Amino acid sequence: MSNRMWGGRFSEGPDAIMEEINASIDYDKKLYAQDIAGSKAHAAMLAKAGVLTPADAEAIAKGLDQVKAEIEDGRFTFSRALEDIHMNVEARLKEIIGEPAGRLHTARSRNDQVATDFKLWVRDTVDQLHVQLSDLMKALLARAEEHAETVMPGFTHLQSAQPVTFGHHMMAYVEMFERDRTRLVDARKRLNECPLGAAALAGTSFPIDRAMTAGALGFDRPTANSLDSVSDRDFALEVMAAAAIAAVHLSRLAEEIVIWSSAQFHFVRLSDKFSTGSSIMPQKRNPDAAELVRAKSGRIIGDLNGLMIVMKGLPLAYSKDMQEDKEQTFDCLQNFSLVIAAMTGMIRDLAVNPAAMKAAAGSGYSTATDLADWLVRAGGVPFRDAHHITGRIVAIAAEKGIELAEVPLSDMQAVDGRITSDVYDVLTVDDSVRSRTSYGGTSPENVRAMAKVWRDRLGA
Ligand code: ARG
Repeated sequence: MSNRMWGGRFSEGPDAIMEEINASIDYDKKLYAQDIAGSKAHAAMLAKAGVLTPADAEAIAKGLDQVKAEIEDGRFTFSRALEDIHMNVEARLKEIIGEPAGRLHTARSRNDQVATDFKLWVRDTVDQLHVQLSDLMKALLARAEEHAETVMPGFTHLQSAQPVTFGHHMMAYVEMFERDRTRLVDARKRLNECPLGAAALAGTSFPIDRAMTAGALGFDRPTANSLDSVSDRDFALEVMAAAAIAAVHLSRLAEEIVIWSSAQFHFVRLSDKFSTGSSIMPQKRNPDAAELVRAKSGRIIGDLNGLMIVMKGLPLAYSKDMQEDKEQTFDCLQNFSLVIAAMTGMIRDLAVNPAAMKAAAGSGYSTATDLADWLVRAGGVPFRDAHHITGRIVAIAAEKGIELAEVPLSDMQAVDGRITSDVYDVLTVDDSVRSRTSYGGTSPENVRAMAKVWRDRLGA
């Protein structure tokens, strides 16, 4: 039997394979609430415009409420033959209310309908992600305040560079996640225009009021071009791009947690709640949650790529290729939500080992820059020369197998006579971080001041 929604010119039904490749109901049923909200807004508008009788609009609204209740109670039978959520809902509405159901699709098409439903879903998800990112930032902030004085090695090239504080390191991620959060805010502003009423691609001859449906669905305004309305998936791409960048940040933090929780570093210990054991090696505590955050960020980036590749070759307006937008977007944003939640839990529970961090911070001649800076300040030595002098002293320390602060004054003076015993004041890691008071620097006093700024901004 041909499809009763569109099968008038067909004499045969679809091949089983056609049904399998064409049906989207298995995943787009997730859009049922948005679909029903869109249909109710459309019906109310059609009634106001005199296209539907008030009685029909009323029957449609009540029928749609019943469909929604059936779906939510698990009493609804989804049908692949009916392809997608739009036709599943409408077909059931027809069973419930009869003929008026057939009038609902006046002055719209599935093309503007799906764009509207999907935008509503993305918008709801953006709002939820915004809250989640704020929670993650609050968790990082709390750890930063707790560890404003905790000295750890700062790395470049994963080689000891200069000591920093763990608080400063946590606050670096607060800055990153704020950029991610504001990218979502920006994307939300741009996406909040309603495609409903663009119909198939050209608009409609019915006297519809697109501003009314836009307002009813919480949009700022209707979209301005009917072709663009049904062809656009920027809203999904842009939110996925924001998610992908944020996922890169989450992955870098995850990678650091993996490194820090190794026995060799021993800087942190993940709680039992976010670790797993090995079935063969009894001693193991594996940082699986962090590893999965790192892996899922690859998947999130892949989803963004996938949809960009689907979209890039499509002529205007709608092509069925665009049905492939949903699985990738759902996968992307649901996994993004999951990795934010996992990271928030890991950060909250993370046991920090200040002694190990401090010991590591002092190794690798991490205060060499402080020695060079001291020569500039105390001896008026040009920085380039100071760098060279310090390099020679580091070489002596390395040869003797001692730390910089342990190099005897006589050895230092043999390299440069301007060095005095005051130099030892700048060679400890605590002195080093305390001295980094320039704006944005790692000193504990800076970290506390920045944490306070963020406390106010986040209302934490
Ligand atoms: N399930 C379709 C999708 O997600 C709905 C739009 C179908 N439109 C059409 N003209 N076949 O894209």
